[in-house]
Amino acid sequence: MKKLAYAVLLLVLAASVGLFFAGKPRQAEWTSGWSAETALTFPKDFYFGTATAAQQIESQSPSDWTAFELDAIAKGRTDHGSAPGVAKPGHIAELDKYSLDVRTRKTDYDRRYDADFAAAKQVLGNNAYRFSFEWARLFPREDMQQPDPEAVAFYQGVLDSLERHELTPFATLFHFSSPAWLWQEKDGKRGWERADAQALWQRYVDAVLSLYGSRIKHWTTLNEPMVFLNAGYLDGVFPPLETRADPAAAGPALAAMARAHAYAYHAIKKVVGQDSQVGITQHTRAFEPWRNWNPLDRFAARQIDEIFIWDLLDALETGELQLTGTGFSEQIDGLAGTQDYVGINYYGRFYIEVSLANPVKPIVHSHDPAADQWVNDLGWAIYPKGFGDVLRTAYERYNKPIYVLENGTADNAANDLRRQYLLISHLAEMAHAQQQGVPLKGYFHWSLTDNFEWAEGFTARFGLFAVDYADDYRRTARPSAPLFGRIAREGLSPELLKSLENMPAPRSH
Ligand code: FCB
Repeated sequence: MKKLAYAVLLLVLAASVGLFFAGKPRQAEWTSGWSAETALTFPKDFYFGTATAAQQIESQSPSDWTAFELDAIAKGRTDHGSAPGVAKPGHIAELDKYSLDVRTRKTDYDRRYDADFAAAKQVLGNNAYRFSFEWARLFPREDMQQPDPEAVAFYQGVLDSLERHELTPFATLFHFSSPAWLWQEKDGKRGWERADAQALWQRYVDAVLSLYGSRIKHWTTLNEPMVFLNAGYLDGVFPPLETRADPAAAGPALAAMARAHAYAYHAIKKVVGQDSQVGITQHTRAFEPWRNWNPLDRFAARQIDEIFIWDLLDALETGELQLTGTGFSEQIDGLAGTQDYVGINYYGRFYIEVSLANPVKPIVHSHDPAADQWVNDLGWAIYPKGFGDVLRTAYERYNKPIYVLENGTADNAANDLRRQYLLISHLAEMAHAQQQGVPLKGYFHWSLTDNFEWAEGFTARFGLFAVDYADDYRRTARPSAPLFGRIAREGLSPELLKSLENMPAPRSH
């Protein structure tokens, strides 16, 4: 009887919440309300750069990703998923359409980085550059006590070139790839969950710090751990290609990564100094209900926002890793107080729908086909206001400096309009947030050149410079490249801000 009363009460509650929101549209504004009449500028010491990752641009090292790439080719697993941007588990889209040379050399960065950095300086007007060290390049074999000399020299060369071009290095220690040997099973565990993973990570981190620590002040220990977790342990689209039942089942891997972060944080402080800037970066989206009137969609959107964006950042403050709605919780020694800045990567809006067929696994829509909105080549809805919102929330929650370590879009259309729209509108959102008091310190566009976009292969084009893979990796500046340079040098003039009005930008749903 009691149960029935509860059920009726719940139904009444759900119905009234539903009724309350029924008439309300989803977020209808596209910007946070800055005025196109007034120029938006950035402080002199602001960092403008591009972001990259080793596996996506450098020639292949013996990493878990390289093993996956070779296997996908050998087994003909190169299909697309059901829609653009939805990867097919165990596959790398259209990898077979690219030559062995391209698959091996990626963007030929190893031979061209100096010219790429020259362009970043001259065309983009940049003063910084974000890249990652490849653990598998420095330690291609598990038994090595010292890093590989050629790899050591390679990164010295990269840092020398950055210095010549006056680009401040921002280094990442883990950007999705790790040595293939780490994924050999030991005592029934692989990768981050192996009992010796921490010791092996520490050997790598110590080597990087003793080699390059004196040259780099800005460090990101982990790139987007929640994407790695989701794609690698739940969806099976990134190595280790697992499909565990729920986020709690992947919790131990995340806890191990949090431990690895804590070690690196303190090691950097010791070697580089207290004035180093250390943090992680999180993949963020504006998570919104698919059906605004549906309380389940609203609830799920909020839960996903918490678990995907904030739980881990909270843990870096408190030392306690709790995953919302999963029951997973772990206290991690040395983790409390290990973020000097909040690292934000932002890629647009996702809509969350709870289907009664599988209520524990909500459907994620990357755009709304019925809405009048800009959508990139991977089907992702471009949504400037969500960027401003996430920056303000990050500041409200942590009261720390913020670096935008990635923001960009896949646009391979000749007119490059969506990337230009994204650049102007997102930089305006950022400048506006800064005016409101959010302490933003830098913006890194993803990415400098087209590159290997993980399970999407080479098809998704994120570069300010296009790469012609059929013509010796020739780089061509997209119209966005000089545009980014203009904004980095001069800020956003009213003329640039008003140019958004002439683009066929969506103004309503
Ligand atoms: C982010 C990744 C980055 C790149 C962009 C498009 O999630 O950190 O490597 O793939 O997406």
